[in-house]
Amino acid sequence: MNDQERLRAIWDRSVEKLKEVVREFDITEDELHIAGAYFNRLGQSGMCPSLIDVALAMTSIDAKRQRSHGGTRANLTGPYHAQHPVKADGNLCDTPPAPDAPRLEMSGVVTDVATGQPIAGAEVDFWHADHNGIYDRQGNHLRGIVPTDEQGRYRINTLLPNDYSEHDFDPLGELFRAMGRTNTRAAHVHVKVCVNGVDLLTTQLFMSTSNMLKDDYVEGAVTDDLIVALQKREENGVTIYSGQFDIAVAPETSAATAS
Ligand code: BEZ
Ligand code: FE
Repeated sequence: MNDQERLRAIWDRSVEKLKEVVREFDITEDELHIAGAYFNRLGQSGMCPSLIDVALAMTSIDAKRQRSHGGTRANLTGPYHAQHPVKADGNLCDTPPAPDAPRLEMSGVVTDVATGQPIAGAEVDFWHADHNGIYDRQGNHLRGIVPTDEQGRYRINTLLPNDYSEHDFDPLGELFRAMGRTNTRAAHVHVKVCVNGVDLLTTQLFMSTSNMLKDDYVEGAVTDDLIVALQKREENGVTIYSGQFDIAVAPETSAATAS
């Protein structure tokens, strides 16, 4: 099937499915025009890619994984990835944490899914929101690439990310409110794994501390295998959560990559 035939087939099938919805819910012509006006506003707000991410992207990522060599489940890149500096000591904080900000210590081993062998020198790229659910969009606070050691181990010291909702004032949030749903993401750490210059995996690790694990507004994003079980302790008045998450990738193929 060439590109033109594929596009035509996707259009025909999509319209066919939507016709079923129109018939099933007796959607009127007026309601269709309201939907059209809504999509105009959504486009003007720049949120069409987010709607597609929220509704469909995980389906595409999971389907690709079915055809790949397995390993850790892939997940969305999301809108906040950037080029990050190497932070070999694993400390992702560029500014000293506020005393009341809970810390996160996370470690694990990167292995080859086929052999189970650890991968030394893998570049594990992290980025995440802070304890208030806010990403650093100008600098590299809570962002950085951590190389694995000779035993394939990584370790990060950072802040515990919080849940965040980012569509409170745009048409995407309006749609979710109208459906009685939240537009909140469950607290997560984004991870990319690159070996010998090849991106092998993009995923998200969800914090067991999150209240939104069952209500993340990205359809299908949270699965049990991506939840990091965190233990809590207090040290000198600081709350520290720690957890372990091993990552399996397939170096012979980039088929597990999400993007
Ligand atoms: C995120 O993972 O950061 C994200 C993904 C989809 C929509 C919004 C945010
Ligand atoms: Fe995110």
